[in-house]
Amino acid sequence: MKGEIPPLIGRIDQIARTPEGRHYLADVLLNGLNGPLIANGDRYNFSMPSFRRLPDQDIAAILTYLSAAGDRPDPPVFHAADIAAQRTPVLSPSAVADERRALDKIHPLP
Ligand code: HEM
Repeated sequence: MKGEIPPLIGRIDQIARTPEGRHYLADVLLNGLNGPLIANGDRYNFSMPSFRRLPDQDIAAILTYLSAAGDRPDPPVFHAADIAAQRTPVLSPSAVADERRALDKIHPLP
């Protein structure tokens, strides 16, 4: 939903190419996200709920599915063990937005 909820297919696989990007994506699912951001050149500043209640395996499967739904070859895969390792510390949704800003500086997000 342009201007409200950013597109994921075709972007998750690009963000997930680096360990820092995979870390960020797992944090979004585990903690939610709230802060101004730009995705595909459009501005967003709304709130994404946490999906912490889902099992590690499900979060890994959702992110792997979205990654594979992009058109690029060799889409990155997410592992349940990596999700499990990030359950603590619990982050605020705005701390995840800070993580996104830091990530964007080292690996610009699409
Ligand atoms: C399991 C399903 C979902 C997945 C995998 C998912 C994944 C993501 C990811 C990875 C981002 C960050 C995108 C980026 O950094 O460019 C994001 C952002 C966002 N998502 Fe979700 N999301 C899901 C469900 C939802 C739902 C149900 C809502 C609304 C109720 C939602 C609302 C948002 C919003 C508003 C943002 C942008 C946050 C902001 O402006 O600060 N998402 N989502």
